[in-house]
Amino acid sequence: MDTTTLASPLTLPCGAVLANRIAKAAMSEQLSDRANSPTVRIDRLYERWAAGGSGLVITGNVMIDRRHVGEPRQVVVEDERDLPALRRWAAAGRANGTTLWVQVNHPGRQAMRIAGSRPVAPSAIAPRIPGAVTPQALTGAQIEEIVGRFARTAAVFREAGFDGVQLHGAHGYLISQFLSPLANRRDDEWGGDAARRQRFVLEVVRATRAAVGPDFPVGIKLNSADFQRGGFSEEESGDVVAALAAAGVDLIEISGGTYESPAMMGDATGTASSAAAASAAVPARASTRAREAYFLDYAVRVRDRAPDVPLMVTGGFRSAAAMREAVASGACNVIGLGRPLALHPDASAALLDGSRARIDAGSRSIGVRKLDSVIDLWWHTRQLHRIGRGREPWAGERALHTLATFLLVNGWGAARRKRGG
Ligand SMILES: Cc1cc2nc3c(=O)[nH]c(=O)nc-3n(C[C@H](O)[C@H](O)[C@H](O)COP(=O)(O)O)c2cc1C
Repeated sequence: MDTTTLASPLTLPCGAVLANRIAKAAMSEQLSDRANSPTVRIDRLYERWAAGGSGLVITGNVMIDRRHVGEPRQVVVEDERDLPALRRWAAAGRANGTTLWVQVNHPGRQAMRIAGSRPVAPSAIAPRIPGAVTPQALTGAQIEEIVGRFARTAAVFREAGFDGVQLHGAHGYLISQFLSPLANRRDDEWGGDAARRQRFVLEVVRATRAAVGPDFPVGIKLNSADFQRGGFSEEESGDVVAALAAAGVDLIEISGGTYESPAMMGDATGTASSAAAASAAVPARASTRAREAYFLDYAVRVRDRAPDVPLMVTGGFRSAAAMREAVASGACNVIGLGRPLALHPDASAALLDGSRARIDAGSRSIGVRKLDSVIDLWWHTRQLHRIGRGREPWAGERALHTLATFLLVNGWGAARRKRGG
């Protein structure tokens, strides 16, 4: 019988050890200053999570190119100019021996519009989101340049004292765009068939590994599927998992969906199931055991494609019982928690010692489905901002107030497209 518990340590392929099986998943903080440098508010937020007992804390997505940013006030790291601030961030987030990884990302066609720079993507195909612009198709030289940026940003974070890096290969951002037959219509060495669509992610992994060395954890967040007809399918995702394992990644986090079909947020937006039902490419729904966690069944199906690489599953976990069963059964090795740890940053410790049986995520709605997904997401971002100001999270904020502050910070255009980090 497997005796793995939530409190069991986990040794990664590179030799690094996670203290337990609960990970704080990436949540975009939008807490940089105007120059996209990290602020003291980020330090305070990560100090709080470092006291919370998670075996792994993954930052919100950090951009690798200031011309291409997903959301306002995201941290951008292209070079060493912010090294002192990054060192402070690392020190805050690694307090109590917490393992801190940075998530690095390029938004591709899901970038916000910045004066003077047009979004870029594998092909000039706009996402099916109201108001989206048609991106510029990348040249081969530009693609090589972006591969180098991922590696350089990872190396800067290593130098700053972070413990590992996670590539954002999910949710419809650039890596996921290259993998998707809908977004990638190239017919060169970067697209045209499934093997060539994989090339970008594998090049990014290779370059990142070369930049950080063999002993530094390199993980990736990957979609189980895009949840769109004709999009990245579960079958192709399984092949990518096998290729990533062969390429030497240390942890594969499973999620799903894109801005166009936000399955990653699951039942809060009512989309995981409806997207699955709408897509012939997506196999049958979750079993009873996996109903709480949106992507656990997929993890079970893909497990033998990467037998030596730990799998993390994120999305929907709320009860300690489901988390315990998921790791004890071997369905996955690490439990990822997003929204619950925005509202309860210290809850991992209580889940681990058994003093808490559930961890709630909270949510807000005004009954307009399109706006509700934005409100739910921003309501959680607001909790991060409160913690960053040295205050406690507050479940009492009303939905209309949340919407008003969202529009103030992000603008109306973002309300039409923002879906889920
Ligand atoms: C406010 C917010 C910001 C997010 N930002 C990111 C991000 O930067 N990178 C990412 O991979 N996922 C991001 N996500 C998605 C979460 O990592 C996670 O996949 C999702 O919330 C589902 O997990 P949960 O049910 O535990 O919340 C974000 C989610 C929220 C609520």
